[in-house]
Amino acid sequence: MKILLMGNGAREHVIAESLKKNKDALLYSFMKSRNPGIASLSKEICMGSYSDLDAIKKFARKNEIDFAFVGPEEPLSFGVVDSLIEIGVPSIGPTRLMARLETSKSFTRELLKKYKIEGNPKFRAFNQENFNEIKYFFNELEGIVIKPDGLTSGKGVKVQGDHFDTKDEALDYCKEVLETHKAVVVEEKLDGEEFSLQCLTDGKTVIATPPVQDHKRAYENDEGSNTGGMGSYSCENHLLPFLKKGHIDKALGITQKVADAIYRETGLYYKGVMYGGFILTKKGIKLLEYNARFGDPEAMNVLNLLKTDLASICYAMNVQKLSTIKVEFEKKATVCKYVVPEGYPDNPIKNEKIEITKVHKKAKMYYASVEQRGNEIYMTGSRAIAFLGIGNNLDEAENIAEDSVYCIKGRVFHRKDIGTKALIEKRVNHVKSFSA
Ligand code: GLY
Repeated sequence: MKILLMGNGAREHVIAESLKKNKDALLYSFMKSRNPGIASLSKEICMGSYSDLDAIKKFARKNEIDFAFVGPEEPLSFGVVDSLIEIGVPSIGPTRLMARLETSKSFTRELLKKYKIEGNPKFRAFNQENFNEIKYFFNELEGIVIKPDGLTSGKGVKVQGDHFDTKDEALDYCKEVLETHKAVVVEEKLDGEEFSLQCLTDGKTVIATPPVQDHKRAYENDEGSNTGGMGSYSCENHLLPFLKKGHIDKALGITQKVADAIYRETGLYYKGVMYGGFILTKKGIKLLEYNARFGDPEAMNVLNLLKTDLASICYAMNVQKLSTIKVEFEKKATVCKYVVPEGYPDNPIKNEKIEITKVHKKAKMYYASVEQRGNEIYMTGSRAIAFLGIGNNLDEAENIAEDSVYCIKGRVFHRKDIGTKALIEKRVNHVKSFSA
């Protein structure tokens, strides 16, 4: 089974590891920088840009690839799946049209609205034509969120109270967004606890992986700038301490309805991962956004619990027989902590060497934004190395993850509080404060 894996982060490192559990799997990895973990699991690697669709097709043809697994959103947004379909290679990942689920915030909001799927906050999309109406819409909202209608690497979303205060500032930001994007989405600000529900789908069947909570802020106690995610946890009962089963069922129900709506809208089946960013609010479950791929770090939490062979799941997704597979997960807790360069995310040091001393024997280590040069590892400016602890409960998993990060020597930091009792209690109390 020859598999083309696209991507070079920790998410793709864990995907590679999971695919390789199948003894027949041979990995051919296309990366934009050399991830030593992925390279060591691959039969062959090819370095290049994710927008170089010809190079990707050439690499796939040369190696007679059976199917591709596309890890990050960037190649999806360039239409890599469409290009691979042209040469007869199916992919785990949506075509460019369907990847709009992530690449266009207005597409997703309008889809939910058109098909009467619950989960939307109050929202409207604006462009140059209806720009004058924005200020009136602001008056309908208690708090404002502004989202550029396109990929912004998590940096474009601005929230009132965090990034701006007044309606004038909000209007200025909308103007700025419309200089580089065709549209801007303005939404009601939601208060609640966020969680990630990553689902596998062949367009008909939708299967949820255990819910995970990510931590976006750079510093302990949820302070500092937003990042790609400093770490995440999942629980042994496949819920989260502030979520009930009914909440997960609701979020899964929304995702199933969205998969159905995509088919009705486009006549095509969405194949890949539908990762819903949900929030539990006083008005119930709301959708923040969808991503058309696994989350990073969330992929490390769920793929480490997967008991069913991932390569077989992919095969079933490709032939649209996901309904015939029983996808099972270990009843264990996981905690993931990222080690990141000093200054991350606003002003990270780059090209800085790190040393990896003895790794905790129970922890799993995944390479992310690093580059191997000879025998040395250099950080490239974003999240560098992830550590995952697995345990019978969160305490055990957190201890393993926390003890393991110190094997990285260099100018780095991590969040000590992820997965700890104190932070979890804060989350639970937050939910209690609005559900009482
Ligand atoms: N953990 C956030 C993301 O993958 O987008």
